[in-house]
Amino acid sequence: MADLRTKFCGLESPNPFWLASGPPTNTGGQVMRAFDAGWGGAVWKTIGEPIQNTSSRYGAIDFNGVRMMGFNNIELISDRPIDVNLSEIAEVKKRYPKHLVIASLMVESKQDVWHDIVKRAEGAGADALELNFGCPHGMSERGMGAAVGQVPEYTEMITTWAKEAAKTPVISKLTPNVTDITRIAQAAERGGADAVSLINTINSVMGVDLENFAPRPNVGGKSSHGGYCGPAVKPIALHLVSSVAKKVKIPIVGIGGIGNWIDAAEHIALGATTVQVCTAAMHYGFRIVEDMADGLAAYMDDHGYRTIEDFRGRAVPNVMDWGDLDLNYKIIADIDKDLCIGCQLCYAACEDGAHQCIERATPANSKLNVHGMEVHVPRIIDDECVGCNLCALVCPVDDCITMREIDEGLAPMSWNQKVHAGM
Ligand SMILES: Cc1cc2nc3c(=O)[nH]c(=O)nc-3n(C[C@H](O)[C@H](O)[C@H](O)COP(=O)(O)O)c2cc1C
Repeated sequence: MADLRTKFCGLESPNPFWLASGPPTNTGGQVMRAFDAGWGGAVWKTIGEPIQNTSSRYGAIDFNGVRMMGFNNIELISDRPIDVNLSEIAEVKKRYPKHLVIASLMVESKQDVWHDIVKRAEGAGADALELNFGCPHGMSERGMGAAVGQVPEYTEMITTWAKEAAKTPVISKLTPNVTDITRIAQAAERGGADAVSLINTINSVMGVDLENFAPRPNVGGKSSHGGYCGPAVKPIALHLVSSVAKKVKIPIVGIGGIGNWIDAAEHIALGATTVQVCTAAMHYGFRIVEDMADGLAAYMDDHGYRTIEDFRGRAVPNVMDWGDLDLNYKIIADIDKDLCIGCQLCYAACEDGAHQCIERATPANSKLNVHGMEVHVPRIIDDECVGCNLCALVCPVDDCITMREIDEGLAPMSWNQKVHAGM
């Protein structure tokens, strides 16, 4: 039976699912309800000198009927006094000693101020500390958040300050709004971070009301760039998690676009030890963790993985430089005549948008559908197909277009091997 208990920097979490710092972890009451629902840990809404937020502060992009495919916020850190947050952390830890409570911290970039907040958070009973070097808006204008996380030297320095005072594990949370996140992750590691977590949100403007030219989210006709997250950012997060996994030895906490067990397992396969969730909990509530835990356990049982460690990082070596990919690997498209509805979308996409490898349907390749109507099935020109996947991606019918591997009897050969061989 799969054992979801996860070891993290000497701590044990009941499972790898933690709530990320954000509105779902704003109060002790919420965090306790989240633990009751099954979350293994919670990173408290970032604690620092209380701020005043704007109204409104969230925006979203819906896609094809799916609400909040991408989510954005211009919210700052906690608007509650530090003492109130810390006393609630103490209460939660008293009542839930086996769950992990991680204090997310962001204060002025001064050594003594960092020492002070670290000691106070640990005094309240926090199991670990997460340094918020990621907030892309508002706080960065005040010299905190991304203003720190975008400069390797600052990231290293403040991590060092936190470590000087800390007795519990220190996690540096990274911003994706940089040219090379691996340099920032390495700087945190040099500063003594016990782990890194990523990603925080991505700089974004959600849209513009074309009647009055107010950007979204609208604050009295104006807006500001904010942080993008939710399902839309998962591919970016997966790329950055895997890049960091190749460059640091310390544990990684995967964050970004996680809403179900598959998203979580992908982060873990690309190197994450535990994962954090924000937008999905804001969208659906705390109960989603039940399906996440059941789904992950079932996947692990099916594959004979007893613990998270048995498959963690297994996909990392498979993320390669383009130059190392096998240029002799060949696939071509296959259309299932029985499933095809004759919409010609694959033909249009291939003809206009790709490589002209599909022949428009002719009477010769038509079929009768279940209603006895003639359906025109396009034909793949096997010798021309470059195996780009586009037709399979646009096809509206599941499994109608599949990609078939062709063995041309050639040994694997990458671009780098060609260059090395002088070809
Ligand atoms: C409304 C909102 C507020 C957030 N506040 C914080 C915060 O206070 N501190 C922090 O480190 N991250 C904050 N985040 C970022 C999340 O912790 C997380 O890194 C990001 O949303 C990506 O995860 P997701 O795709 O699961 O939402 C916030 C995110 C949202 C949506």
